Amino acid sequence: MKFFVDTADIESIRDLAATGLLDGVTTNPSLVAKTGRDFVTVLREICAVVDGPVSAEVTATDAAGMLQEGRHLAEVARNIAVKVPLTWDGLKACRALRQAGTMVNVTLCFSAGQALLAARAGATFVSPFVGRLDDVSEDGMALIRDIRTIYQNYPTIETEILVASVRHPRHVIEAAKIGAEVCTVPPDILKKLVQHPLTDKGLAAFLADWKATSQAIPRKGSA
Ligand code: E4P
Repeated sequence: MKFFVDTADIESIRDLAATGLLDGVTTNPSLVAKTGRDFVTVLREICAVVDGPVSAEVTATDAAGMLQEGRHLAEVARNIAVKVPLTWDGLKACRALRQAGTMVNVTLCFSAGQALLAARAGATFVSPFVGRLDDVSEDGMALIRDIRTIYQNYPTIETEILVASVRHPRHVIEAAKIGAEVCTVPPDILKKLVQHPLTDKGLAAFLADWKATSQAIPRKGSA
């Protein structure tokens, strides 16, 4: 499964990109607003750090406006994936942008029917929001399972399932078990995936035993 990070904060992105574990980035208008910075400047910086797809969301709500904004955003860098909402106009804009060779992430997906339409519109990615479904007492992961089943029934579908609105490490594990191609994860949750108290405890014990031997492993080369 590919890991995208769900943030517009360039410092967090730089930090995670340095691990080599980052396959892409998703932003949305709320995340950009949080930075207090100019959208295109932020996108340019992110695209200079990350080779994979960087989602940039349109704010027009009509198809023509989305298409015009999408064309502008797509010119920022070759790895921009234009993000459009899962509405009729969004689907129209998706098809037109895809025909022009632009990657498109169809976002705000909350039903299997919507995901089917996104695939028919040629979306590169569809983004089902699992956390927001859980918030209203629905089962976010059940939606991912449904979309996986539907897409598998039609091998010509190339749309990748991009699990979004991830709230905790279990969402990531469940998404991987279902076989979603991508999971976009807030930086703090990505970091939580590495944590385990038994790892910390085991490491402390190994280091204490090693110290007692008074040995040191010589270091070779530069870090
Ligand atoms: C996805 O692309 C969205 O930016 C994001 O996952 C939304 O998550 P939220 O529900 O935590 O705002």
